[in-house]
Amino acid sequence: MAPQILTLDSISLVDRSARMEGARRIFEETAPTLASLPADARQAFQQKYFGIYLETPETFYLAVEHDLVLGYLAGAPQTLPLHFSLNPYLEQFRTEIQSRYPAHLHMNLTAAARGMGLGSRLISEFVKDLSMMRPAPSGIHIVTSRDAENVKFYLKNGFQKTNEAGKLLLMARGFS
Ligand SMILES: CC(C)(COP(=O)(O)OP(=O)(O)OC[C@H]1O[C@@H](n2cnc3c(N)ncnc32)[C@H](O)[C@@H]1OP(=O)(O)O)[C@@H](O)C(=O)NCCC(=O)NCCS
Repeated sequence: MAPQILTLDSISLVDRSARMEGARRIFEETAPTLASLPADARQAFQQKYFGIYLETPETFYLAVEHDLVLGYLAGAPQTLPLHFSLNPYLEQFRTEIQSRYPAHLHMNLTAAARGMGLGSRLISEFVKDLSMMRPAPSGIHIVTSRDAENVKFYLKNGFQKTNEAGKLLLMARGFS
């Protein structure tokens, strides 16, 4: 069976903590610098890029094959004051985010599941759900590095290079 895309809130409470743990392992796998941080910094990093998104399970997506989590997309329909305060670098892009691209996401797949279309499927599901919200957000952004490999992936998924600040690149996609 092909991997399924599920939101966390559609998974029974009995299975949910195991799936969340699967996603957490992928978050840790894909953040190689995490292990070198002191425990409190590690905890803060995990919380701001992963943990806070578990609190909105209707926009936390999992790619699941049988019982195995292959990847996740942690989505936010709005970039809130909390996100700006946890990530001060966002200030450089505040104008674009607030005026046009308020939604955002963080996503990661386990290495063996990359390049098979799952990342694109995760984005499609999130964008479909955003378009059905009332009011629907006008667009979505991500922040990556100018030289990151994933720039190609986002371009392929309809995002455009929208602004730069140092090494940081704002990529965004409008929905109108
Ligand atoms: C980036 C990522 C989410 C893409 O998901 P995916 O399922 O591998 O991507 P898809 O199969 O849907 O699309 C692959 C396309 O994206 C491009 N791409 C860009 N970066 C890529 C990467 N790191 N790995 C795989 N493909 C990548 C490929 O060129 C490919 O295009 P093609 O089919 O024309 O060759 C996933 O590879 C991943 O988790 N990478 C590591 C972590 C990461 O970069 N997360 C994003 C943080 S902003």
